[in-house]
Amino acid sequence: MPLPTGIKVGAGGTASADLPRKTGTASAEPLRKTATAPVLAPAAAAGREFQFTAADFERVRQLIHKHAGISLAPIKQDMVYSRLARRLRALGMKSFDQYLAHLERGHGAEWETFVNSLTTNLTSFFRENHHFEMLQKHLLRLAQRPIRIWCSAASTGEEPYSLAITACEAFNTLTPPVQIHASDIDTNVLKTAAHGEYPLERIERLDAERQRKYFIKGAGVPTGQVRVRPELQKLITYSRINLLDAQWPSAKGPFDALFCRNVMIYFDKPTQYQILKKFVPLLHPDGLLYAGHSESFLHATDLFRSLGRTVYERTDRRK
Ligand SMILES: C[S@@+](CC[C@H](N)C(=O)[O-])C[C@H]1O[C@@H](n2cnc3c(N)ncnc32)[C@H](O)[C@@H]1O
Repeated sequence: MPLPTGIKVGAGGTASADLPRKTGTASAEPLRKTATAPVLAPAAAAGREFQFTAADFERVRQLIHKHAGISLAPIKQDMVYSRLARRLRALGMKSFDQYLAHLERGHGAEWETFVNSLTTNLTSFFRENHHFEMLQKHLLRLAQRPIRIWCSAASTGEEPYSLAITACEAFNTLTPPVQIHASDIDTNVLKTAAHGEYPLERIERLDAERQRKYFIKGAGVPTGQVRVRPELQKLITYSRINLLDAQWPSAKGPFDALFCRNVMIYFDKPTQYQILKKFVPLLHPDGLLYAGHSESFLHATDLFRSLGRTVYERTDRRK
């Protein structure tokens, strides 16, 4: 499946400014896996522009699961319909069957749009703040060498920018010796991340000093929006990485910290295990893996040992 890789965006965010339709602050959690067969609620189906059968939904479920590991729960039928109906309209297609057949024939560009349409990108600045506090201490312990961090499900950028701010605060400079690689499967969110512009309310919960030091208001930034400082943008590079892919050429380790938060929850345990196995050689022996609050890797204790609060170290690390 020819999906593009290698979005590299420098300071100032050269990627386009178009914001994805699907953003939000973190609170709701990703879709739960379920084996229940989907049944279309007649009420939901009434008055739709396109027919969307249980079989169509099942086909979508299988395709997105195979290509991105994402498990769509039956309650997501309306969401799937509305997001994909836009594609049918844009492509002038008459039915889901026609659209899905087009996709299955292997249209690369449409695969990208299909995946982008079905991801859930909830995130926020300093989400699960204790991880950033731990990271700050970790960075100071590593201060002897240039530090590399991989943020592997970066969504719209709040997480990599929180990492960049943490690095600036740890070293008390806007140019800390830290490089952050941010990736996601969804190319739309990566464009938003690189652009670095957010509605003002996204930073409301940050303290006043952080708001002032790391975000710009006015000065060409549209009213109601803030932009991250270019110094933060310079610390981050971007690429599209599907964690399900056999290889991740743009994830060049070893990394000192690997953030993989609130994405593993989409994947079944064997898939998680395969991903964790590929993380091991990419993580420096002293490195730490940060997972989401409801993600646990107890099925992979041969690979990663828990340090508590969903932070892990390599099991093969010598004490
Ligand atoms: C709920 S967001 C989490 C964002 C951030 N890590 C956080 O914790 O706030 C999950 C992200 O995982 C991405 N994602 C889903 N499947 C993926 C895959 N197979 N490979 C890489 N990223 C994926 C989605 O596009 C989405 O941006």
